[in-house]
Amino acid sequence: MSDILQFLQQRNSSPKLTTPGPSGPDMEHIFRAALRAPDHARMRPSRFITIAQERRVAFGALLERCLLLRNPDADEAALIKARNSPLRAPLLVVVVVKVALHPKVPPIEQRFSGACAAQAVLLASEASGFAGIWRTGAAAFDRAVMTGLGLAEDEEIIAFLYIGSRNGAAKVIPPLDTTEFVSSW
Ligand SMILES: Cc1cc2nc3c(=O)[nH]c(=O)nc-3n(C[C@H](O)[C@H](O)[C@H](O)COP(=O)(O)O)c2cc1C
Repeated sequence: MSDILQFLQQRNSSPKLTTPGPSGPDMEHIFRAALRAPDHARMRPSRFITIAQERRVAFGALLERCLLLRNPDADEAALIKARNSPLRAPLLVVVVVKVALHPKVPPIEQRFSGACAAQAVLLASEASGFAGIWRTGAAAFDRAVMTGLGLAEDEEIIAFLYIGSRNGAAKVIPPLDTTEFVSSW
């Protein structure tokens, strides 16, 4: 089996991340890979926002404020969790898709393209020696969070990608039998 096939079959998200995160040339490679996501009609729907260092604290404050707006009864534990969540990785990449009207490319295909770009960021991060995990949750669908991040009205969040170095061993990948998922027609 080629190294690339082996790599693809072993891809593994990492919820526990630590420093260092990618920077400099690693980031350039990761985003070049992301920009090779399939893209119907070359609409280039995706863009990427990085949040690192102390900006993660500011983002945590935004998440906390928005949680309170969504749920004024949120308890202290939930507020602390929201505030601290960006600190779970040295780098966050927000994958953003601009959803446009197009005669041949429905909005769902533009979101699919963004999802492919998100997966490419994860794969390229792992290929560069890092690890990551795709998260969403209510904040990803909250217009106040989007506005706080500077998104326009026609933009949406596809993913919060948490990227860093794997903290601890990779989890065991459950063996799956391809015959349960693949059939011929
Ligand atoms: C669209 C999307 C949203 C996700 N959101 C979350 C999330 O908010 N929290 C979480 O723990 N995992 C979330 N996951 C799942 C993880 O990214 C990951 O796939 C899962 O932990 C399984 O690990 P694996 O990718 O190594 O199989 C999401 C996955 C996708 C595709």
